[in-house]
Order: sequence, then structure tokens, then C-alpha cells
Amino acid sequence: MAQFNLPPNSVIGTGKTYYAGAGAKNVKNFQIYRWDPDSGENPRMDTYEVDLAACGPMVLDALLKIKNEIDPTLTLRRSCREGVCGSCAMNIDGTNTLACTKAISDVSGVVKIYPLPLLSVVKDLVPVLTHFYAQYTSIKPWLMSATQAPDRERLQSKEDRAKLDGLYECILCACCSTSCPSYWWNGERYLGPSILLQAYRWIIDSRDEFTGERLDNLEDPFRLYRCHTIMNCTKTCPKGLNPAKAIAEIKRLMIERR
Ligand code: SF4
Ligand code: SF4
Ligand code: FES
Repeated sequence: MAQFNLPPNSVIGTGKTYYAGAGAKNVKNFQIYRWDPDSGENPRMDTYEVDLAACGPMVLDALLKIKNEIDPTLTLRRSCREGVCGSCAMNIDGTNTLACTKAISDVSGVVKIYPLPLLSVVKDLVPVLTHFYAQYTSIKPWLMSATQAPDRERLQSKEDRAKLDGLYECILCACCSTSCPSYWWNGERYLGPSILLQAYRWIIDSRDEFTGERLDNLEDPFRLYRCHTIMNCTKTCPKGLNPAKAIAEIKRLMIERR
């Protein structure tokens, strides 16, 4: 059997433990991935004891409490703290999700937190999203039309507007793409569930006049057809969306136009 060895500097070590004060009433342990490229050291898992009696209910509340009161070097992204911006996406308790909408009480035992899998890490819980955003740009995520713009809004029927439900809510958090095995192996060329859901959002928009060109752009063995319907994407989406279904719809449109 083939044996693979990880490079020595990728091995995750055991880090420091930060104990809660003597007066803590309800202690929960958080084990958090730490890596600072400037230190030259290996990644490590630091453990923080957090008094839940003095903490908000969500994992993001605990992370901010740690950063503000225990260890200011902990690095993470967040903005809206209500599941809208997508910037606090990370791997919590083995699942890609949003720290701001993940309840601490949903995790039994130690809360283990890593950055999103697959992606390179800037520092601690902050992943590099440059390639992900470049792929997003490649699907031209804006309305394209060849005809003269009307004086007022471009109108849609109620039925056409309803086709965007389940698509427009995507916040581009990348939880789905980074949980997709096909994206792990072919992420350089396969667009992944998030970007394909976004692509479908514009393909299906009745106001867009470049549907054919959008489908041409995806007609490729890698960009679209690396999806093997494994369904990790739909299972993990913290917004309850169904990227696998959107991908299947694109494939259906490809067949229908032949
Ligand atoms: S489909 Fe869901 S998991 Fe994927 S990027 Fe959009 S909101 Fe995030
Ligand atoms: S259904 Fe397709 S996009 Fe979703 S996880 Fe599976 S292979 Fe990836
Ligand atoms: S902070 Fe915006 S989605 Fe979590």
C-alpha cells in the first residue's frame, strides 16, 4: 500500500492552555487551530476555557470573548454576526459552518475549531479566498443584456422571480465548496458548488440575455462536470440551500439545448 508522509512543518502540535478564572461558573473548552506564518513554527491547537455564564450563545461569541479577554493574537474574520456576510465560515465540530449562527450548545464536549479545509491559511482561522473569488468573477455574476436598458426597472413576473428563491440567498461563504471532495481534488479547474449555484442564479434569471454564452462558459469537462452528486455541499450549507440541485439543473439545461 502506498504510504504518504506529511511534511514535518505541517504536523499540528499541542499548544498552550488558557484556564478560566477561579470564579468561572460554567466552563466549556475550545480547542482552536493556531498558525502564524511569521513565527516559523508548526501549527498548534490551543485550548481555551471559556465561562459560558459570561458569554453569548454562539461560537462566534466565544471566539470574540477569547480574542477580547484572553488572547488578542487569535485571528479570525467576521463582520455581520448574523449569517449574512459569510466571513466567519470555518470548520466547527467537524462541519463547515458559520461561527455566528452555530450555537455552542449544539456541540457536546470540546468545541474543536479549524479553518475551512483545503484552502491555504493566512493566519489561524483566516483562509485564502483569492482563487475562490477569481472563479466567482469567471462566471460574470452580474446581469448582462444586449438590448437598450429600459427607463425603469427590468420587470419580472412573479413566477420568474420565484425561480431565484434558494439561489439569491447564497452568501458565498465557501462552506459547500470546501466540503466537496471533487473540489478538493480538482479545485484549480472545477468551479465547485458555490460558484456553480451562483452561475445558475444568472442562467435562470429571466432578465438576463446571455444564457447561451453562460452555458457555453460552463460546457467543459472540468468546470461543471466534476460534480459527481456526492451531496456534501447541500448537507453542509449553513443557509439551507441546495447547490447540488442547482448543478443538476445546469446539466439538464446543457442536455436540453443539444
Ligand atoms: S451555497 Fe450555501 S454553503 Fe455554499 S457558498 Fe452559498 S451559502 Fe455558503
Ligand atoms: S454534489 Fe457535486 S458539488 Fe456537491 S459535494 Fe458532491 S460533487 Fe461536490
Ligand atoms: S459574521 Fe457574517 S456570516 Fe458570520
